[in-house]
Amino acid sequence: MVETTTFLKNRWYVAALTTEVDDTPLARTIAGQKTVLFRDTKGEIVALEDRCAHRQAPLSLGEVVGDNIQCGYHGLTFDRSGSCVRVPSQKLIPPGACVRAYPIAEKQGFIHLWTGDREPPLEETPFDFPFAAMDSLNARYAALSGKFDYRLLIDNLMDLTHLGFTHKNTIGTGEVADSGKAKSERQGDRVIVTREMENIAPAPTHVEVTGYSGNVDRWQIIEFIPPCFISLQVGNAKHGTGGFNADPADKLINRRTLHIATPETEDTTHYFWVSTYPSDSMTPEQEQIIYDRTLEVLDEDVRMIEGQQTRYDPDFAMIDISEDAGQLAMRGTLERLIKEEQAHP
Ligand code: FES
Ligand SMILES: [Fe+2]
Repeated sequence: MVETTTFLKNRWYVAALTTEVDDTPLARTIAGQKTVLFRDTKGEIVALEDRCAHRQAPLSLGEVVGDNIQCGYHGLTFDRSGSCVRVPSQKLIPPGACVRAYPIAEKQGFIHLWTGDREPPLEETPFDFPFAAMDSLNARYAALSGKFDYRLLIDNLMDLTHLGFTHKNTIGTGEVADSGKAKSERQGDRVIVTREMENIAPAPTHVEVTGYSGNVDRWQIIEFIPPCFISLQVGNAKHGTGGFNADPADKLINRRTLHIATPETEDTTHYFWVSTYPSDSMTPEQEQIIYDRTLEVLDEDVRMIEGQQTRYDPDFAMIDISEDAGQLAMRGTLERLIKEEQAHP
């Protein structure tokens, strides 16, 4: 088990999109733990420690044979429980020949992996993103990675005033930061930030998608759920029609997205994303524009945060501004949960 003070261990983490895993072994480091994922003959996911019990070769360099994985070095074979079931050069399986098997769950397009030392308690279930499972919604996914501490990505998502600068050619305008004030509140271990921006020009991508260039009322509702989930409700409506509470006919953009910042190591991150929209609100062509622009946006964030990481010194005396409130509440919550976990491992 990796010793760290930056992420929680006894948690379910999203390890991959379901579409990323097939019967070819996939190496994936999750919260500092090197794992290998593959599907067995029934299509069920298997997750094992990516280190052979024999001479520590990565099992991910081997191959899936039936329901098992065969090490690519001397051919020892392990089943889904991690037990060695074959040693090609001898009949006897040495006692204790096994690798760690991880609890794994597949749901809503994501593969969740439990990194804790003990089995997950019943009340700890993989994160549920209800919007992704609703029939009336379409979902699009993306998987990226970045060379930065996962908390910097959560910082980024807790403060969307950056849209007017980092994403000024797509989903941002200068008025996003200038109008509106973030309200941040804690609900248990969750942190919710709400920003409403009234009577502002629509962002370039929104004009491109909707064809509407009149002023809009825009909303951003950001919810942080430990250990690394950020659920967003964002959109805009024609100015004066009620903003978030406007009649659906007056809503121009209305989206629910989930951003997932799974720590890979202390300074690298898997970035997963899913976006949903009601099927009757967008044509496939409009949706494709949003999807393509979003990939540009996510890339802009990754580049900015990777740059930030190259300079980042946790002991540096940073200045804070009022829009940092949600970010600071998120950081405080994570720090407390990590301390609690370490005090009661
Ligand atoms: S290291 Fe895996 S079989 Fe030898
Ligand atoms: Fe961004």
